[in-house]
Amino acid sequence: MRTISTTLKLTNRFSPQGNIIYITTENTLPSQLVLSEDEENYVNQQKNVLKNELIMLNRYSHWIYLLFPKSAKSEYVLLENLRKLAAKVGDHANQNGLTSLQITGEETNTACILAVAEGILLNNYQFIQYRSDAEAKINSLTEISVVSDKLDQNDITRISVTSQATLWARDLVNEPVNKLNAIELAEKISETIRAAGGKAEVLNLQKIEALKMGGLLAVNKGSIDPPTFTILEWKPDHAVNPNPVVLVGKGVVYDSGGYSLKPGSSMETMKCDMAGGATVSAIVYAVASLKLPIHLIALIPATDNRLVGNAYVPGDIITMMDGTTVEVLNTDAEGRLILADALSYAKKYNPMLVLNFATLTGSAGRAIGAQGIVAMQSDARDFYDSLAESGHAVHERLVEFPMWDEYKEQIKSKIADLKNIGGTEAGAITAGKFLEHFTNYPFIHFDIASPAFLEKADSYRGLGGTGIGVRLVFDFLKKFASV
Ligand code: BES
Ligand code: ZN
Ligand code: ZN
Repeated sequence: MRTISTTLKLTNRFSPQGNIIYITTENTLPSQLVLSEDEENYVNQQKNVLKNELIMLNRYSHWIYLLFPKSAKSEYVLLENLRKLAAKVGDHANQNGLTSLQITGEETNTACILAVAEGILLNNYQFIQYRSDAEAKINSLTEISVVSDKLDQNDITRISVTSQATLWARDLVNEPVNKLNAIELAEKISETIRAAGGKAEVLNLQKIEALKMGGLLAVNKGSIDPPTFTILEWKPDHAVNPNPVVLVGKGVVYDSGGYSLKPGSSMETMKCDMAGGATVSAIVYAVASLKLPIHLIALIPATDNRLVGNAYVPGDIITMMDGTTVEVLNTDAEGRLILADALSYAKKYNPMLVLNFATLTGSAGRAIGAQGIVAMQSDARDFYDSLAESGHAVHERLVEFPMWDEYKEQIKSKIADLKNIGGTEAGAITAGKFLEHFTNYPFIHFDIASPAFLEKADSYRGLGGTGIGVRLVFDFLKKFASV
Protein backbone atom coordinates (compact mmCIF):
# COMPACT_ATOMS: atom_id res chain seq x y z
CA MET A 1 0.00 0.00 0.00
CA ARG A 2 1.22 3.45 -0.93
CA THR A 3 1.29 5.27 2.38
CA ILE A 4 -0.62 8.45 2.73
CA SER A 5 1.88 11.28 2.74
CA THR A 6 -0.15 13.55 4.99
CA THR A 7 -0.01 12.83 8.71
CA LEU A 8 -2.68 13.84 11.17
CA LYS A 9 -1.88 14.35 14.82
CA LEU A 10 -3.48 15.72 17.94
CA THR A 11 -1.88 18.38 20.14
CA ASN A 12 -3.23 20.55 22.90
CA ARG A 13 -1.29 23.69 22.18
CA PHE A 14 -0.65 25.49 18.94
CA SER A 15 2.36 27.26 17.70
CA PRO A 16 1.47 30.90 17.01
CA GLN A 17 4.10 31.12 14.29
CA GLY A 18 2.64 28.20 12.31
CA ASN A 19 -0.10 28.26 9.68
CA ILE A 20 -3.45 27.95 11.33
CA ILE A 21 -7.10 27.39 10.45
CA TYR A 22 -9.65 28.84 12.86
CA ILE A 23 -13.15 27.42 12.53
CA THR A 24 -15.83 29.80 13.78
CA THR A 25 -19.44 28.72 13.67
CA GLU A 26 -20.63 31.57 15.91
CA ASN A 27 -19.88 34.42 13.48
CA THR A 28 -17.55 36.04 16.02
CA LEU A 29 -13.77 36.40 15.75
CA PRO A 30 -11.85 33.67 17.57
CA SER A 31 -10.83 34.90 21.00
CA GLN A 32 -7.31 33.42 20.74
CA LEU A 33 -6.58 35.54 17.71
CA VAL A 34 -4.97 38.96 18.09
CA LEU A 35 -5.52 41.08 14.98
CA SER A 36 -4.10 44.47 14.04
CA GLU A 37 -6.62 47.20 13.34
CA ASP A 38 -6.11 46.84 9.56
CA GLU A 39 -6.56 43.10 9.75
CA GLU A 40 -9.70 43.42 11.81
CA ASN A 41 -11.20 45.88 9.31
CA TYR A 42 -10.29 43.59 6.45
CA VAL A 43 -11.81 40.55 8.14
CA ASN A 44 -15.00 42.40 9.03
CA GLN A 45 -15.36 43.69 5.47
CA GLN A 46 -14.81 40.19 4.04
CA LYS A 47 -17.09 38.53 6.53
CA ASN A 48 -19.93 41.02 6.96
CA VAL A 49 -20.08 42.81 3.62
CA LEU A 50 -18.77 40.28 1.12
CA LYS A 51 -20.08 37.28 3.10
CA ASN A 52 -16.91 35.34 2.44
CA GLU A 53 -16.77 32.00 4.22
CA LEU A 54 -13.00 31.66 3.89
CA ILE A 55 -10.75 34.58 4.76
CA MET A 56 -6.98 34.38 4.40
CA LEU A 57 -4.48 36.58 6.19
CA ASN A 58 -0.90 36.65 5.00
CA ARG A 59 1.39 37.13 7.99
CA TYR A 60 4.46 36.54 5.74
CA SER A 61 6.00 34.04 8.17
CA HIS A 62 2.70 32.15 8.18
CA TRP A 63 -0.91 32.17 6.96
CA ILE A 64 -4.08 32.48 8.97
CA TYR A 65 -7.23 30.96 7.52
CA LEU A 66 -10.54 31.93 9.05
CA LEU A 67 -13.55 29.74 8.30
CA PHE A 68 -16.97 31.32 8.75
CA PRO A 69 -19.32 28.70 7.32
CA LYS A 70 -22.77 30.09 6.57
CA SER A 71 -25.61 28.75 8.66
CA ALA A 72 -26.87 25.48 7.24
CA LYS A 73 -30.15 23.58 7.04
CA SER A 74 -28.68 20.76 9.07
CA GLU A 75 -25.51 19.74 10.88
CA TYR A 76 -24.70 17.38 7.98
CA VAL A 77 -24.87 20.20 5.44
CA LEU A 78 -22.60 22.29 7.66
CA LEU A 79 -20.06 19.45 7.89
CA GLU A 80 -19.99 19.05 4.11
CA ASN A 81 -19.51 22.80 3.67
CA LEU A 82 -16.55 22.58 6.05
CA ARG A 83 -14.97 19.67 4.13
CA LYS A 84 -15.21 21.77 0.97
CA LEU A 85 -13.83 24.91 2.59
CA ALA A 86 -11.01 22.79 3.99
CA ALA A 87 -10.25 21.53 0.48
CA LYS A 88 -9.86 25.16 -0.64
CA VAL A 89 -7.46 25.84 2.23
CA GLY A 90 -5.49 22.72 1.27
CA ASP A 91 -5.21 23.88 -2.33
CA HIS A 92 -4.08 27.34 -1.26
CA ALA A 93 -1.53 25.87 1.17
CA ASN A 94 -0.05 23.68 -1.58
CA GLN A 95 0.05 26.56 -4.06
CA ASN A 96 2.04 28.52 -1.48
CA GLY A 97 4.41 25.69 -0.59
CA LEU A 98 3.20 25.33 3.01
CA THR A 99 4.18 22.06 4.70
CA SER A 100 2.02 22.12 7.80
CA LEU A 101 -1.37 23.33 8.99
CA GLN A 102 -2.93 23.52 12.43
CA ILE A 103 -6.69 23.30 12.89
CA THR A 104 -8.51 24.77 15.83
CA GLY A 105 -11.96 26.01 16.78
CA GLU A 106 -12.57 26.97 20.38
CA GLU A 107 -16.33 27.30 20.24
CA THR A 108 -16.83 24.70 17.52
CA ASN A 109 -17.96 21.14 18.11
CA THR A 110 -15.58 18.26 17.51
CA ALA A 111 -17.43 16.99 14.43
CA CYS A 112 -16.68 20.30 12.68
CA ILE A 113 -12.98 20.06 13.48
CA LEU A 114 -12.85 16.47 12.22
CA ALA A 115 -14.69 17.42 9.02
CA VAL A 116 -12.04 20.04 8.28
CA ALA A 117 -9.25 17.53 8.93
CA GLU A 118 -10.98 14.98 6.70
CA GLY A 119 -11.51 17.50 3.89
CA ILE A 120 -7.81 18.36 3.88
CA LEU A 121 -6.63 14.73 3.99
CA LEU A 122 -8.93 13.62 1.18
CA ASN A 123 -8.17 16.71 -0.89
CA ASN A 124 -4.43 16.19 -0.59
CA TYR A 125 -4.56 13.00 -2.70
CA GLN A 126 -2.57 12.86 -5.93
CA PHE A 127 -2.13 10.15 -8.53
CA ILE A 128 1.00 11.37 -10.29
CA GLN A 129 3.56 8.60 -9.91
CA TYR A 130 3.70 7.92 -13.65
CA ARG A 131 4.64 11.53 -14.45
CA SER A 132 8.33 12.30 -14.93
CA ASP A 133 7.86 15.55 -13.05
CA ALA A 134 6.11 13.86 -10.10
CA GLU A 135 8.70 15.10 -7.62
CA ALA A 136 8.20 18.70 -8.61
CA LYS A 137 4.42 18.34 -8.65
CA ILE A 138 4.05 16.65 -5.28
CA ASN A 139 1.96 18.54 -2.72
CA SER A 140 4.01 20.42 -0.15
CA LEU A 141 1.51 19.87 2.64
CA THR A 142 2.49 16.86 4.78
CA GLU A 143 1.51 17.60 8.37
CA ILE A 144 -1.86 18.44 9.83
CA SER A 145 -2.26 18.98 13.55
CA VAL A 146 -5.54 19.27 15.33
CA VAL A 147 -5.35 21.54 18.34
CA SER A 148 -8.16 20.57 20.67
CA ASP A 149 -8.71 19.32 24.20
CA LYS A 150 -12.18 18.03 23.34
CA LEU A 151 -11.00 15.34 20.91
CA ASP A 152 -9.15 12.17 21.80
CA GLN A 153 -6.61 10.11 19.92
CA ASN A 154 -9.26 7.57 18.81
CA ASP A 155 -11.09 10.25 16.84
CA ILE A 156 -7.89 11.26 15.11
CA THR A 157 -6.89 7.66 14.35
CA ARG A 158 -10.36 6.95 12.96
CA ILE A 159 -10.26 9.90 10.56
CA SER A 160 -6.72 9.05 9.45
CA VAL A 161 -7.55 5.40 8.79
CA THR A 162 -10.85 5.97 6.99
CA SER A 163 -9.20 8.66 4.86
CA GLN A 164 -6.25 6.38 4.14
CA ALA A 165 -8.66 3.56 3.20
CA THR A 166 -10.54 5.89 0.85
CA LEU A 167 -7.31 6.98 -0.81
CA TRP A 168 -6.21 3.37 -1.21
CA ALA A 169 -9.50 2.61 -3.01
CA ARG A 170 -8.78 5.61 -5.28
CA ASP A 171 -5.31 4.25 -6.04
CA LEU A 172 -6.68 0.84 -7.02
CA VAL A 173 -9.25 2.49 -9.31
CA ASN A 174 -6.75 4.84 -10.90
CA GLU A 175 -4.26 2.09 -11.80
CA PRO A 176 -4.97 1.07 -15.41
CA VAL A 177 -5.39 -2.56 -16.45
CA ASN A 178 -1.91 -2.78 -17.95
CA LYS A 179 -0.58 -2.15 -14.42
CA LEU A 180 -3.23 -4.11 -12.53
CA ASN A 181 -4.90 -7.15 -14.07
CA ALA A 182 -7.18 -9.49 -12.11
CA ILE A 183 -4.27 -11.43 -10.59
CA GLU A 184 -2.33 -8.31 -9.65
CA LEU A 185 -5.46 -6.75 -8.15
CA ALA A 186 -6.11 -9.85 -6.03
CA GLU A 187 -2.48 -9.89 -4.84
CA LYS A 188 -2.42 -6.22 -3.99
CA ILE A 189 -5.68 -6.43 -2.06
CA SER A 190 -4.62 -9.59 -0.18
CA GLU A 191 -1.27 -8.14 0.85
CA THR A 192 -2.85 -5.01 2.27
CA ILE A 193 -5.61 -6.83 4.14
CA ARG A 194 -3.14 -9.30 5.67
CA ALA A 195 -0.94 -6.41 6.79
CA ALA A 196 -4.00 -4.88 8.50
CA GLY A 197 -4.60 -8.14 10.42
CA GLY A 198 -7.33 -9.65 8.22
CA LYS A 199 -7.39 -12.92 6.25
CA ALA A 200 -7.23 -13.13 2.48
CA GLU A 201 -7.65 -16.07 0.11
CA VAL A 202 -7.57 -15.92 -3.68
CA LEU A 203 -9.41 -18.61 -5.66
CA ASN A 204 -7.62 -19.29 -8.97
CA LEU A 205 -8.99 -20.45 -12.33
CA GLN A 206 -9.06 -24.15 -11.34
CA LYS A 207 -11.03 -23.41 -8.16
CA ILE A 208 -13.39 -21.09 -10.03
CA GLU A 209 -13.96 -23.86 -12.58
CA ALA A 210 -14.49 -26.44 -9.84
CA LEU A 211 -17.12 -24.15 -8.27
CA LYS A 212 -18.79 -23.81 -11.71
CA MET A 213 -18.90 -20.02 -11.55
CA GLY A 214 -20.37 -19.82 -15.05
CA GLY A 215 -20.87 -16.05 -15.01
CA LEU A 216 -17.29 -15.21 -14.09
CA LEU A 217 -15.93 -17.85 -16.50
CA ALA A 218 -18.08 -16.61 -19.42
CA VAL A 219 -16.89 -13.00 -19.05
CA ASN A 220 -13.31 -14.20 -18.68
CA LYS A 221 -13.37 -16.16 -21.96
CA GLY A 222 -12.43 -13.00 -23.85
CA SER A 223 -9.37 -12.40 -21.70
CA ILE A 224 -5.85 -13.76 -21.95
CA ASP A 225 -5.50 -13.37 -18.15
CA PRO A 226 -7.20 -15.82 -15.75
CA PRO A 227 -9.95 -14.59 -13.42
CA THR A 228 -9.68 -14.40 -9.64
CA PHE A 229 -12.15 -14.63 -6.80
CA THR A 230 -10.82 -12.95 -3.68
CA ILE A 231 -12.23 -13.68 -0.25
CA LEU A 232 -11.35 -11.32 2.61
CA GLU A 233 -12.29 -11.84 6.23
CA TRP A 234 -12.13 -9.90 9.48
CA LYS A 235 -13.34 -12.04 12.35
CA PRO A 236 -12.68 -10.52 15.78
CA ASP A 237 -13.17 -12.54 18.97
CA HIS A 238 -16.08 -10.51 20.29
CA ALA A 239 -18.03 -9.67 17.18
CA VAL A 240 -21.45 -8.12 17.84
CA ASN A 241 -22.97 -10.04 14.91
CA PRO A 242 -23.28 -13.85 15.09
CA ASN A 243 -23.81 -13.95 11.30
CA PRO A 244 -21.37 -12.05 9.13
CA VAL A 245 -21.93 -8.95 7.05
CA VAL A 246 -20.83 -9.89 3.52
CA LEU A 247 -19.61 -7.26 1.07
CA VAL A 248 -19.53 -8.02 -2.64
CA GLY A 249 -17.61 -5.80 -5.09
CA LYS A 250 -17.49 -5.82 -8.89
CA GLY A 251 -13.92 -6.39 -10.01
CA VAL A 252 -14.01 -5.85 -13.78
CA VAL A 253 -10.45 -4.59 -14.18
CA TYR A 254 -11.32 -3.30 -17.64
CA ASP A 255 -14.64 -3.20 -19.47
CA SER A 256 -14.36 -2.89 -23.24
CA GLY A 257 -17.93 -4.18 -23.56
CA GLY A 258 -16.65 -7.33 -25.28
CA TYR A 259 -18.34 -8.14 -28.61
CA SER A 260 -21.05 -5.60 -27.67
CA LEU A 261 -18.16 -3.17 -27.89
CA LYS A 262 -18.48 0.16 -26.10
CA PRO A 263 -18.75 3.08 -28.50
CA GLY A 264 -16.21 5.91 -28.83
CA SER A 265 -14.95 7.64 -25.74
CA SER A 266 -17.17 5.67 -23.33
CA MET A 267 -14.31 3.16 -23.09
CA GLU A 268 -11.81 5.74 -21.86
CA THR A 269 -12.75 5.52 -18.18
CA MET A 270 -13.41 1.78 -18.01
CA LYS A 271 -10.39 1.01 -15.85
CA CYS A 272 -12.76 2.19 -13.12
CA ASP A 273 -14.97 -0.87 -13.46
CA MET A 274 -13.41 -2.54 -10.44
CA ALA A 275 -14.32 0.36 -8.16
CA GLY A 276 -16.82 -1.81 -6.28
CA GLY A 277 -14.03 -4.31 -5.53
CA ALA A 278 -11.77 -1.47 -4.42
CA THR A 279 -14.46 -0.03 -2.15
CA VAL A 280 -15.25 -3.29 -0.37
CA SER A 281 -11.53 -4.06 0.08
CA ALA A 282 -10.96 -0.63 1.60
CA ILE A 283 -13.91 -1.12 3.96
CA VAL A 284 -12.32 -4.35 5.24
CA TYR A 285 -9.00 -2.52 5.55
CA ALA A 286 -10.54 0.23 7.71
CA VAL A 287 -12.57 -2.15 9.87
CA ALA A 288 -9.59 -4.47 10.47
CA SER A 289 -7.15 -1.62 11.13
CA LEU A 290 -9.49 -0.09 13.69
CA LYS A 291 -10.46 -3.52 15.06
CA LEU A 292 -14.22 -2.95 14.94
CA PRO A 293 -16.08 -5.82 16.66
CA ILE A 294 -17.86 -6.84 13.46
CA HIS A 295 -17.52 -10.13 11.60
CA LEU A 296 -17.01 -9.01 8.02
CA ILE A 297 -16.38 -10.86 4.74
CA ALA A 298 -15.71 -9.42 1.29
CA LEU A 299 -15.98 -11.24 -2.05
CA ILE A 300 -14.38 -9.79 -5.16
CA PRO A 301 -14.85 -11.61 -8.47
CA ALA A 302 -12.37 -10.15 -10.96
CA THR A 303 -11.60 -10.33 -14.68
CA ASP A 304 -11.31 -7.98 -17.63
CA ASN A 305 -14.09 -7.94 -20.25
CA ARG A 306 -12.46 -8.07 -23.68
CA LEU A 307 -12.75 -9.74 -27.03
CA VAL A 308 -10.21 -12.31 -28.14
CA GLY A 309 -11.12 -15.23 -30.42
CA ASN A 310 -13.09 -17.34 -28.00
CA ALA A 311 -14.88 -14.53 -26.15
CA TYR A 312 -18.53 -14.99 -25.17
CA VAL A 313 -20.98 -13.54 -27.67
CA PRO A 314 -24.58 -12.27 -27.68
CA GLY A 315 -26.84 -15.31 -27.92
CA ASP A 316 -24.74 -17.55 -25.66
CA ILE A 317 -26.60 -19.41 -22.93
CA ILE A 318 -24.56 -19.87 -19.78
CA THR A 319 -25.15 -21.75 -16.53
CA MET A 320 -24.41 -19.85 -13.37
CA MET A 321 -22.93 -21.28 -10.16
CA ASP A 322 -26.41 -21.82 -8.63
CA GLY A 323 -27.72 -23.57 -11.77
CA THR A 324 -29.67 -20.58 -13.17
CA THR A 325 -29.38 -20.39 -16.96
CA VAL A 326 -28.83 -16.97 -18.55
CA GLU A 327 -29.23 -15.91 -22.15
CA VAL A 328 -26.49 -13.38 -22.79
CA LEU A 329 -27.91 -10.74 -25.13
CA ASN A 330 -25.30 -8.08 -24.48
CA THR A 331 -21.71 -8.84 -23.48
CA ASP A 332 -21.44 -5.33 -22.01
CA ALA A 333 -23.87 -6.30 -19.24
CA GLU A 334 -21.04 -8.38 -17.73
CA GLY A 335 -20.98 -7.01 -14.19
CA ARG A 336 -24.22 -8.69 -13.16
CA LEU A 337 -22.88 -12.04 -14.45
CA ILE A 338 -19.76 -12.08 -12.30
CA LEU A 339 -21.62 -10.61 -9.31
CA ALA A 340 -24.39 -13.22 -9.55
CA ASP A 341 -21.86 -15.97 -8.82
CA ALA A 342 -20.44 -14.03 -5.88
CA LEU A 343 -23.96 -13.48 -4.50
CA SER A 344 -24.66 -17.22 -4.81
CA TYR A 345 -21.36 -17.95 -3.07
CA ALA A 346 -22.36 -15.58 -0.23
CA LYS A 347 -25.28 -17.87 0.73
CA LYS A 348 -22.89 -20.31 2.38
CA TYR A 349 -22.14 -17.76 5.12
CA ASN A 350 -25.80 -17.41 6.11
CA PRO A 351 -25.16 -13.65 6.19
CA MET A 352 -26.90 -11.11 8.39
CA LEU A 353 -26.73 -8.66 5.47
CA VAL A 354 -25.09 -8.48 2.04
CA LEU A 355 -23.96 -5.14 0.58
CA ASN A 356 -23.11 -5.16 -3.12
CA PHE A 357 -21.02 -2.37 -4.67
CA ALA A 358 -20.73 -2.09 -8.45
CA THR A 359 -20.19 0.35 -11.29
CA LEU A 360 -23.11 -1.45 -12.83
CA THR A 361 -25.14 0.73 -15.18
CA GLY A 362 -24.91 3.94 -17.17
CA SER A 363 -28.62 4.17 -16.41
CA ALA A 364 -27.95 4.95 -12.72
CA GLY A 365 -25.75 7.88 -13.72
CA ARG A 366 -28.28 9.19 -16.24
CA ALA A 367 -30.91 9.18 -13.48
CA ILE A 368 -29.06 11.01 -10.71
CA GLY A 369 -25.58 11.94 -11.96
CA ALA A 370 -22.55 11.75 -9.67
CA GLN A 371 -24.18 13.47 -6.68
CA GLY A 372 -25.24 10.27 -5.00
CA ILE A 373 -25.52 6.50 -5.13
CA VAL A 374 -28.47 4.64 -6.62
CA ALA A 375 -29.39 1.99 -4.05
CA MET A 376 -31.95 -0.80 -3.88
CA GLN A 377 -32.84 -3.12 -1.05
CA SER A 378 -34.75 -6.31 -0.52
CA ASP A 379 -35.63 -7.56 2.95
CA ALA A 380 -33.24 -5.01 4.48
CA ARG A 381 -35.40 -1.96 5.29
CA ASP A 382 -33.90 -1.14 8.71
CA PHE A 383 -30.32 -1.61 7.57
CA TYR A 384 -31.09 0.53 4.54
CA ASP A 385 -32.51 3.37 6.66
CA SER A 386 -29.45 3.34 8.86
CA LEU A 387 -27.18 3.42 5.79
CA ALA A 388 -29.19 6.30 4.34
CA GLU A 389 -28.55 8.27 7.56
CA SER A 390 -24.80 7.47 7.30
CA GLY A 391 -25.03 8.67 3.71
CA HIS A 392 -25.98 12.13 4.93
CA ALA A 393 -23.37 12.07 7.70
CA VAL A 394 -20.47 11.39 5.30
CA HIS A 395 -22.10 13.08 2.29
CA GLU A 396 -22.25 9.91 0.19
CA ARG A 397 -25.99 10.11 -0.21
CA LEU A 398 -28.32 7.30 -1.25
CA VAL A 399 -31.25 7.51 -3.63
CA GLU A 400 -33.53 4.53 -3.23
CA PHE A 401 -34.87 2.85 -6.36
CA PRO A 402 -37.62 0.24 -6.11
CA MET A 403 -37.20 -3.52 -6.27
CA TRP A 404 -40.78 -4.06 -7.45
CA ASP A 405 -41.37 -7.52 -8.84
CA GLU A 406 -42.98 -6.20 -12.03
CA TYR A 407 -39.48 -5.20 -13.19
CA LYS A 408 -38.45 -8.85 -13.16
CA GLU A 409 -40.65 -9.45 -16.21
CA GLN A 410 -38.13 -7.42 -18.22
CA ILE A 411 -35.30 -9.89 -17.59
CA LYS A 412 -37.20 -13.11 -18.32
CA SER A 413 -35.93 -15.04 -21.31
CA LYS A 414 -37.97 -17.29 -23.58
CA ILE A 415 -35.22 -19.87 -23.88
CA ALA A 416 -33.41 -19.63 -20.54
CA ASP A 417 -34.29 -18.65 -16.94
CA LEU A 418 -33.08 -15.05 -17.34
CA LYS A 419 -31.57 -12.75 -19.93
CA ASN A 420 -28.85 -10.32 -19.01
CA ILE A 421 -30.50 -7.13 -20.31
CA GLY A 422 -33.90 -5.69 -19.55
CA GLY A 423 -34.67 -3.25 -22.36
CA THR A 424 -34.36 0.50 -22.62
CA GLU A 425 -36.31 1.53 -19.53
CA ALA A 426 -35.29 1.33 -15.86
CA GLY A 427 -31.85 -0.16 -16.63
CA ALA A 428 -30.44 0.34 -13.13
CA ILE A 429 -33.47 -1.38 -11.60
CA THR A 430 -33.54 -4.37 -13.95
CA ALA A 431 -29.83 -4.86 -13.21
CA GLY A 432 -30.66 -4.81 -9.49
CA LYS A 433 -33.48 -7.31 -10.03
CA PHE A 434 -31.07 -9.59 -11.90
CA LEU A 435 -28.74 -9.56 -8.87
CA GLU A 436 -31.59 -10.09 -6.42
CA HIS A 437 -32.45 -13.38 -8.17
CA PHE A 438 -29.24 -14.87 -6.74
CA THR A 439 -29.89 -13.81 -3.11
CA ASN A 440 -31.85 -15.35 -0.23
CA TYR A 441 -30.79 -12.91 2.53
CA PRO A 442 -31.22 -9.20 3.40
CA PHE A 443 -29.65 -7.49 0.43
CA ILE A 444 -28.68 -3.94 -0.55
CA HIS A 445 -27.20 -3.08 -3.93
CA PHE A 446 -25.30 0.18 -4.55
CA ASP A 447 -24.85 1.24 -8.17
CA ILE A 448 -21.82 3.55 -8.06
CA ALA A 449 -21.25 3.80 -11.84
CA SER A 450 -21.30 7.58 -11.83
CA PRO A 451 -19.82 8.75 -8.49
CA ALA A 452 -16.97 6.18 -8.45
CA PHE A 453 -14.94 8.02 -11.07
CA LEU A 454 -14.93 11.74 -11.89
CA GLU A 455 -13.62 13.08 -15.17
CA LYS A 456 -13.45 16.58 -13.71
CA ALA A 457 -12.02 17.31 -10.25
CA ASP A 458 -14.67 18.04 -7.62
CA SER A 459 -13.34 19.54 -4.37
CA TYR A 460 -11.98 16.88 -1.97
CA ARG A 461 -13.43 14.06 -4.13
CA GLY A 462 -10.66 14.85 -6.61
CA LEU A 463 -10.17 13.69 -10.18
CA GLY A 464 -10.51 10.02 -11.19
CA GLY A 465 -11.34 7.41 -8.55
CA THR A 466 -13.24 8.79 -5.54
CA GLY A 467 -13.27 5.80 -3.18
CA ILE A 468 -17.02 6.31 -2.69
CA GLY A 469 -18.73 3.91 -0.30
CA VAL A 470 -15.81 3.44 2.08
CA ARG A 471 -16.69 6.20 4.53
CA LEU A 472 -20.39 5.37 4.10
CA VAL A 473 -20.16 1.72 5.14
CA PHE A 474 -17.56 2.42 7.82
CA ASP A 475 -19.89 4.94 9.47
CA PHE A 476 -22.77 2.45 9.29
CA LEU A 477 -20.73 -0.43 10.75
CA LYS A 478 -19.25 1.74 13.51
CA LYS A 479 -22.72 2.81 14.60
CA PHE A 480 -23.97 -0.78 14.34
CA ALA A 481 -21.06 -2.06 16.45
CA SER A 482 -21.71 0.36 19.26
CA VAL A 483 -25.36 -0.60 19.86
N1 BES B 1 -19.32 -0.90 -16.57
C1 BES B 1 -20.53 -0.58 -17.22
C2 BES B 1 -21.33 0.51 -16.49
C3 BES B 1 -20.69 1.86 -16.37
C4 BES B 1 -21.10 2.88 -17.21
C5 BES B 1 -19.74 2.13 -15.41
C6 BES B 1 -20.54 4.14 -17.08
C7 BES B 1 -19.18 3.38 -15.29
C8 BES B 1 -19.58 4.39 -16.12
C9 BES B 1 -21.43 -1.82 -17.33
O1 BES B 1 -20.77 -3.03 -17.43
C10 BES B 1 -22.23 -1.65 -18.58
O2 BES B 1 -21.66 -1.57 -19.62
N2 BES B 1 -23.54 -1.59 -18.44
C11 BES B 1 -24.40 -1.44 -19.57
C12 BES B 1 -25.57 -2.36 -19.38
C13 BES B 1 -26.46 -2.48 -20.59
C14 BES B 1 -25.72 -3.16 -21.71
C15 BES B 1 -27.68 -3.25 -20.21
C16 BES B 1 -24.87 0.01 -19.62
O3 BES B 1 -25.14 0.59 -18.57
O4 BES B 1 -24.92 0.56 -20.71
ZN1 ZN C 1 -20.16 -3.49 -19.40
ZN1 ZN D 1 -18.90 -3.08 -16.51
